[in-house]
Amino acid sequence: MSILYSKTDLGLMTLRNHLVMAPMTRNRATDNIPNDLMLTYYKQRSTAGLIITEGTSPSPNGLGYPRIPGIFSPAQVEGWRHITDAVHDDGGNMFLQLMHCGRIAHSLNLPAGASMLAPSAVAAAGEMYTDAEGMMPHPVPQVMTGEDIKSTIREFVQAAENAVAAGFDGIELHSANGYLLEQFIRPNTNLRTDDYGGTIENRARFVLETVEAVINAIGKEKVGIRLSPFGVFNDMPLYDGMASDYKYLAEQLNNLEPVYIHLVDHSGMGAPPVPDSIKVTFRREFEGTLILSGGYDAERAEADLVAGKCDLIAVGRPFLANPDLVERWKTGANVNEPDMDTFYTPGTKGYTDYPILEK
Ligand SMILES: Cc1cc2nc3c(=O)[nH]c(=O)nc-3n(C[C@H](O)[C@H](O)[C@H](O)COP(=O)(O)O)c2cc1C
Repeated sequence: MSILYSKTDLGLMTLRNHLVMAPMTRNRATDNIPNDLMLTYYKQRSTAGLIITEGTSPSPNGLGYPRIPGIFSPAQVEGWRHITDAVHDDGGNMFLQLMHCGRIAHSLNLPAGASMLAPSAVAAAGEMYTDAEGMMPHPVPQVMTGEDIKSTIREFVQAAENAVAAGFDGIELHSANGYLLEQFIRPNTNLRTDDYGGTIENRARFVLETVEAVINAIGKEKVGIRLSPFGVFNDMPLYDGMASDYKYLAEQLNNLEPVYIHLVDHSGMGAPPVPDSIKVTFRREFEGTLILSGGYDAERAEADLVAGKCDLIAVGRPFLANPDLVERWKTGANVNEPDMDTFYTPGTKGYTDYPILEK
């Protein structure tokens, strides 16, 4: 009897299997508004136990990349509402990932009047894509004032409330992969000397205050968080003390009781290995649901569930390329390979045209 394909409870939901579709930015949201093409894409994948959407900005300031969706305007809420309805009609469950890009942004990608905010004035190394002018160097972000910190937390709260109004079963705070929340945690991007910088107690404060505020607004059963201990994406180097910093986060999150912690492991994508010991630490310190992700196939997913390493498995690229991934894995059928060239390009190609198994 497989664990992977059996039902399970998560917060207020019953999931029809233990397979979660990992959040994946796909840049199809023209004008930052969710649309019918996105509805088709998510509906095609509604047999996942839980879909976590692509990173979605809680604020105009958080829209770092071109064509990523938001959840701060009435049109965005309305657009998402159609999508959650379609997924729910098929018996699926759906969380919205709230991603504030912080310094991983460019003014050419931001709407008029928006600011590129970050804990400190430290530009990320390298370049980022803009629709207007192609690859551009990462600019130096604007340092957040105490008032900016408060207003950004308020934006997360409003976004979470909007997500519930749009029919989502909950939200995932994107505190991984070098975006705003992680920029506060890491010492290379947080040089602050106030209560939000310095010690880990201070560097974790923005994340923990955001978790607490969002939980107070929509309930702990509806709030998950994604973290990337030992992740290096977006110019976030390893440092001494990383393991103990993340242990502190695990302990503090355990007190706040979000419904899940979702750990990233990008070693299967060429990133440095994530030590098993940090996953064990989270398993030990956090009593809620633990989701592991990164490089899973069906066999390894089942093995990690059987071993009790986690409660759910999140899968990215295989879901991207296989709308009917659950069926394919369950029956041992061949899988489509993802086409990297169309990960972030507009239109249907490489998005809604991956074939499903013929019956
Ligand atoms: C096209 C693409 C877009 C992604 N966008 C996001 C994102 O918006 N938020 C996030 O937390 N992770 C994002 N990721 C990372 C995935 O959630 C996942 O961690 C990664 O693909 C590794 O899992 P896999 O080996 O199953 O693909 C993205 C990955 C891909 C391939």
